[in-house]
Amino acid sequence: MAARRPSETIAIVTHWMGVADANTAGNVHGGVIMRLCDEAAGIAAIRHAAVRVVTAGMDRMTFIEPVGVGELVTFRAMVNAAWRTSMEVGVRVEAENVRSREVRHVSGAYLTMVALDADGRPCEVPALEPETGEERRRQREAQVRRDNRLAERDAILQARAVDHPSRSGAA
Ligand SMILES: CC(C)(COP(=O)(O)OP(=O)(O)OC[C@H]1O[C@@H](n2cnc3c(N)ncnc32)[C@H](O)[C@@H]1OP(=O)(O)O)[C@@H](O)C(=O)NCCC(=O)NCCS
Repeated sequence: MAARRPSETIAIVTHWMGVADANTAGNVHGGVIMRLCDEAAGIAAIRHAAVRVVTAGMDRMTFIEPVGVGELVTFRAMVNAAWRTSMEVGVRVEAENVRSREVRHVSGAYLTMVALDADGRPCEVPALEPETGEERRRQREAQVRRDNRLAERDAILQARAVDHPSRSGAA
């Protein structure tokens, strides 16, 4: 399987936020932002893996500033790192005020996407070959997040095995 470059995975989704996306105060629901992050991340992961993908987890979802009705919101996604069957996709969310043209960084997320074969089983993905210093930094930091995630899972399983031997399965 030929290695792919992060730049080949870029996915950009733009959504014009309407009243159906917002609460009564006129701010866009966090869940709407999360859904569109998931959509953009899924497209980036499919561009890398060239097979169907599912979301295994959303690791860090930050809401930096509220987004208002009538703003244009852009979700930029790119694969940061690829392992055996999973990938980390980073999404940057920017809101644009259409009148003033001011652009604000409003949210961000890291999602783990898993590639599936035709039978729905996890399957191998191509290696990712970062080209720029920035892409290598993102790959290194993705590895730190994965190591932390796995270490946390192992620590929880070990603690459960000690405290509640009957509940030591993975969550
Ligand atoms: C994600 C899923 C396919 C993993 O299945 P599984 O039987 O645990 O498969 P494996 O143990 O072989 O793990 C496959 C990969 O997923 C990763 N993974 C599994 N669970 C994970 C989690 N909660 N968070 C992050 N990564 C996870 C593993 O690290 C592994 O990656 P690697 O091969 O690169 O090391 C399965 O849990 C699933 O189908 N979940 C539901 C997905 C879904 O419906 N999403 C919402 C709609 S898209």
